[in-house]
Amino acid sequence: MKNNPLLWVITALLAASTVYLFLEINHLREENKSCSEKCNSAQTDSFLTTADTIAKPIDEDEIELVHYMTRIQVFHNKLYFAGMENNIKLIEFYLHEIEEEMETIAEAGIIDDEVHISDNMKNLGLEQIHSFQKTLGTPEYNFKKSYDLLTVTCNTCHTASKHEFIKIKTPTSLPFSNQEFKP
Ligand code: HEC
Repeated sequence: MKNNPLLWVITALLAASTVYLFLEINHLREENKSCSEKCNSAQTDSFLTTADTIAKPIDEDEIELVHYMTRIQVFHNKLYFAGMENNIKLIEFYLHEIEEEMETIAEAGIIDDEVHISDNMKNLGLEQIHSFQKTLGTPEYNFKKSYDLLTVTCNTCHTASKHEFIKIKTPTSLPFSNQEFKP
């Protein structure tokens, strides 16, 4: 071998290609590792996108109107007893609570049986709450008058929304006995 230059060349070539192949295998290994990390995260991303798409319509279009109404009913009832005690801070509080519930409905884009519930809430319900709030502390303030108008508004909207059988009236008793309404 010592005397055969061709063998030297072949040996050198073999050594070089072994090093080359070794480096190449390592490189491919690295590539494979980073790909599988990417692939996994791509899979997670596409899973999240699918879950997101499924989840969206539920919270935007299908808010449970009746749950909001039941809360409004309780506040409407308590508001009356706050008014009878002329408890201005408590009146303000309940008007604000009714306003918040109504705003959620107004912003939810609800159309039920071809009736635009959200628009009705804006134009009837919220409109009346705002004019009630505006008279507070002014010479025009008249609790009974504003309260009666609010109740009429509840029923006008129920009729406009094909729910005329839900009739709201001035309460005669409180739903709870564990709250003081005097200021
Ligand atoms: C956007 C118009 C609108 C306004 C304003 C409105 N409601 Fe309603 N209300 C509805 C609709 C529509 C339903 C039926 C909900 C359903 O079909 O799930 C309803 C249902 C109800 C119910 C039945 C739920 C139950 O627990 O029995 C009550 C009570 C109620 N509303 C109270 C009120 C009160 C009190 C007011 C006024 C302070 C009011 N609503 C104002 C549209 C309105």
